[in-house]
Amino acid sequence: MTILNPPEADKNPQILKSLRVLVIGTGGREHTLVWKIARSPRVERIYCPGGNAGIATLADTTPVDEGENFSGLVDFARSEGIGLTVVGPEAPLARGIVDTFQEAGLRIFGPDKKAARIESSKSFCKEIILSASVPTSSAQVFFSIADAMKYLDSQTFPLVIKADGLAAAKGVVITRNRTDAEKIINAFMNDEILGKAGSRLLIEEYLEGEEASLLAFTDGETVLLMDSAQDHKPVYDGDTGPNTGGMGAYSPAPVITPEIRTQCLNEIFIPTITELKKRGIIYKGVLYAGLMITQTGPKVLEFNCRFGDPETQALLPRLKNDLVDVMDAVIDGRLADVELQWRPESAVCIVMASQGYPDKYEKGKVITGLEQIPTTQDAIVFHAGTKCDGAEILTNGGRVLGVTALAETLPNAIDKAYRLVSQIDFENKYYRTDIGQKALKRMKP
Ligand code: AMP
Ligand code: GLY
Repeated sequence: MTILNPPEADKNPQILKSLRVLVIGTGGREHTLVWKIARSPRVERIYCPGGNAGIATLADTTPVDEGENFSGLVDFARSEGIGLTVVGPEAPLARGIVDTFQEAGLRIFGPDKKAARIESSKSFCKEIILSASVPTSSAQVFFSIADAMKYLDSQTFPLVIKADGLAAAKGVVITRNRTDAEKIINAFMNDEILGKAGSRLLIEEYLEGEEASLLAFTDGETVLLMDSAQDHKPVYDGDTGPNTGGMGAYSPAPVITPEIRTQCLNEIFIPTITELKKRGIIYKGVLYAGLMITQTGPKVLEFNCRFGDPETQALLPRLKNDLVDVMDAVIDGRLADVELQWRPESAVCIVMASQGYPDKYEKGKVITGLEQIPTTQDAIVFHAGTKCDGAEILTNGGRVLGVTALAETLPNAIDKAYRLVSQIDFENKYYRTDIGQKALKRMKP
């Protein structure tokens, strides 16, 4: 069992290290959450069932059977005296883990099932956005193949076709011509390649611009924007190839100027939270806006109901606040009393993946070089798909590691992160070599 001894607690022995935290999820985002939570002087112990080899250095990763409707996790939280549960991924949020924990009288951070629909149903998300007059692309929802095909007659290309439900980065396709669009509509609705997630779909106007991620903490009343970040979704350099969960991120993102940030708060986040409230939905947790910064301003591509992965790996190392305090304030509706503080340095996270990801790839390759990289404030290797095998650490997923570096300037952070990456090796490793380049171009006079 891991007893944490964060440096902050040594500095202030008055703070009682008594809180036990359960983190749900096992990837890079969750390693980052565990790393950040472990820095809270209030935290005695962290549990992250099934967690990867990196998480295992900070938390008890003994697997726990989730049980029917999360009953196994509720029993576990009760028996271990868990005072706070933090949910990383969207799937348990969409299935109502927050509702179940709350009914059991347990404290949990994240939106409830109704609120999580902002991510789990793209048509619901669009309905909220449009009712709130939030800038977005125009779109139509379709329940039948015939109607979707007929709609194509009146459209020009490119067009974006989106499955309504959760599809792990596989549910959005940009189509350049009618033949491709018909193929995708058939694949989603007829062949059901995404199961039920594709039985309803959206056909959306294609937006030109640069993408960015803006995440906020909200207690349903107050919205506290985090600093900006930019993800790199396509698998290959130059934003080519299929979309992935994300191949790297940096924060802050210069494309989000102070003016755009204010616009996002006033024209996107606050109206969305207000619209949800009008419908009886009090959104508590992290609200993540996937944005396209167009010639005419920021427009919402999607909302997610959780921290981004890998954006979190670049964001949380820059957050000065105690994350547990912020989460408590969200749960208790006290976010108006909180001010977020950020380290001024830039952070860059480079995802090291298994060759073949996001399609087929091999697992079980020995990872070397990790021991040469001691974790510091400014260099952290977050694990995603890894597992321990005796003294060795093996690859165990498509995205394997998120190598994060902080430095006073973005170019220095990029150099530092790639230097760290060059020290790590495993068979068939793959990573993009252009993480952060868009920001560098923008920063050039
Ligand atoms: P989503 O899951 O909705 O964020 O879509 C995944 C990716 O598809 C986004 O990160 C964008 O790169 C792209 N995308 C989604 N919607 C649009 C759109 N309306 N116009 C252009 N690209 C889009
Ligand atoms: N990085 C994209 C996501 O977390 O959805």
